[in-house]
Amino acid sequence: MIAADQHVATPPNKFIARCFCFLLLLNCFCSSQKTCPNCGSTQVPYPLSTNPACGDPDYHLRCDPRSQKLYFDAMNGSSYLVLRIMASFQRMVVQPSPWVSAPSSACVTQDMVVSEGLRLNQTLPFNLTFSNTIFLFNCSPRLLLTPLNCTPSSLCHRYLESSGHVDKNRALNCAGNPDLNPCCTFVAGGMPSAYKIRLHNSGCKAFRSILSLDPKKPASQWEEGVEIQWASPPEPVCNSKLDCSGASKCLPAGMSGLSRCLCNRGYYWDHVRGTCLRSKHKSKPSGLLSLEVSIGVISFISFAAILVLISVRKFSKRFNQAKLAKAREDMLKSSESGKNAKMFQLKEVKKATNGFSEDRILGSGGFGQVYKAIYVSQAAKNGAIMEVVDRRLIGTEPSGDVLSSVQLFSELAFSCLREKKADRPSMREVVQQLERIVQMVLQGSEL
Ligand SMILES: *[C@@H]1O[C@H](CO)[C@@H](O)[C@H](O)[C@H]1NC(C)=O
Ligand SMILES: *[C@@H]1O[C@H](CO)[C@@H](O)[C@H](O)[C@H]1NC(C)=O
Ligand SMILES: *[C@@H]1O[C@H](CO)[C@@H](O)[C@H](O)[C@H]1NC(C)=O
Repeated sequence: MIAADQHVATPPNKFIARCFCFLLLLNCFCSSQKTCPNCGSTQVPYPLSTNPACGDPDYHLRCDPRSQKLYFDAMNGSSYLVLRIMASFQRMVVQPSPWVSAPSSACVTQDMVVSEGLRLNQTLPFNLTFSNTIFLFNCSPRLLLTPLNCTPSSLCHRYLESSGHVDKNRALNCAGNPDLNPCCTFVAGGMPSAYKIRLHNSGCKAFRSILSLDPKKPASQWEEGVEIQWASPPEPVCNSKLDCSGASKCLPAGMSGLSRCLCNRGYYWDHVRGTCLRSKHKSKPSGLLSLEVSIGVISFISFAAILVLISVRKFSKRFNQAKLAKAREDMLKSSESGKNAKMFQLKEVKKATNGFSEDRILGSGGFGQVYKAIYVSQAAKNGAIMEVVDRRLIGTEPSGDVLSSVQLFSELAFSCLREKKADRPSMREVVQQLERIVQMVLQGSEL
């Protein structure tokens, strides 16, 4: 920008005005904060910092120069691989410490040996969230006296048995005997577990963490990871006033001895936009004021429009869902239900499948066995079999293309029921697919 200023030493007035507006916009919407370069393929969003020249030094992460992977360094020498960063939620997920390599069946994690667990420096802006459900393993029987859940029905046992992440011998060492070395479960996030998951020779010697644990899901689907949140960043660090935007000055801040771009009087620090914004109720030169007012009005209108759009969509979605549910209910209740959807009694199903006879099994799917059912409708009392039943299904063996056409039909039907409109096929695609299936069935019957 200095270069640009020299360049336009004697420019026409209009150009100056335009530059000025541009700079003003920069002041409003950008800031002097420097985002760090990617580490390998991982983005390092502000305020996270991989070197003193970028990000905010309090939010330090380490980019390993060899592996180009990002690490979170906790206290006493333990490091945790960063798995993902959700910048807009000010959260990241790190990998729990690996097991010690020798002996291979030991139920001990590396951070037990190095730092007696995971410890965060309480003066730094990071802490553990309530999303973490912690399993402590290889614990002393002392732990049975704590408020933690160390019973034989504790979820940590399910993790050992069926997550597929712990081999058998290690699982035995982790909690082979619930009375002598129990395992325990608790949710992190409160004090003191927001800053510490303590392992100890006379306590527990390993831990695992599950993100947003859903006990209804099978343990093999539980996601391992330690979620860490960070506090909103303060004003950016600076060396001189050149580092700071117009509405701020570079001044010493806090006890760390660092200087930060503190906002001028009449401005306040907006950490979401990362810039100094004007406090309300201040007068300004009228030209600038009208520009800022119009920017404010435009942002307000866009914001309001987005809100309206979101509520309309939510409402229409709910409305549609209510409509669908009503239609479904009507269809099932309607006296003419036989026309639209037929409800079968267990008695009828038993009869139609010949008492769930094995020779009627067509295959099995997510809902269990699929039987070939011969259903005789009211009309069929006169001897006519329902027309919808493909006559080859009544033969001895359903042929392959019948099964695959049935499968294609149901896939098509399900694709039309997807929640998001963008995921559903267009009418044209539906017709094309139907044509394809019909072709297939016709060719099959010619064979
Ligand atoms: C971890 O570091 C702190 C501060 O340096 C020290 O007081 C503590 O004893 C250390 N703990 C372990 C387990 O090494
Ligand atoms: C905790 O962080 C502060 C600020 O960076 C630092 O000065 C202090 O030495 C750290 N404490 C430990 C025990 O590492
Ligand atoms: C953890 O950090 C969040 C965000 O900075 C903060 O609101 C919360 O109070 C902290 N929790 C504890 C126990 O310090």
